[in-house]
Amino acid sequence: MALPEQLTIGEVAARAVIAKSALRFYESVGLIGSERTAGNQRRYHRSVLRRVAVIKAAQAMGISLDEVRRSLDRLPDQRTPSRQDWERLSAAWKTSLDERISRLERLRDDLAGCIGCGCLSIDRCRLFNPDDELAVRLEGGSKLESEPAG
Ligand code: FES
Repeated sequence: MALPEQLTIGEVAARAVIAKSALRFYESVGLIGSERTAGNQRRYHRSVLRRVAVIKAAQAMGISLDEVRRSLDRLPDQRTPSRQDWERLSAAWKTSLDERISRLERLRDDLAGCIGCGCLSIDRCRLFNPDDELAVRLEGGSKLESEPAG
């Protein structure tokens, strides 16, 4: 049986395996949209199912809803993501995921140095400043200073 053009919130929730409250929240933050009936009930175009699938996939990757919204907003006419759109979005999100994994790996390595230390020093503990560029530059600087001039 073909899917009707318009779906109730219950139908979307059942088909997308998601709570109605989540759908209301997605709508309140502009991730999805609906129309209202004369009785003020939500009706979603069936294409919302693909949008919800994209949102759920992004969330599984740990992408923030803000980032998902910005990405979806960039689609022409806020269209439902096509297969090509999904390829582009997922490639961009993979890059973001890779960056977060790298950051977490650095944090894990820094934490190893903290185990048993307990100083929690604002100045010295890397956990407070895992992306401290000055510290990286200073470390690089001292390496350069110790190298023979040539
Ligand atoms: S707790 Fe001492 S370096 Fe982090």
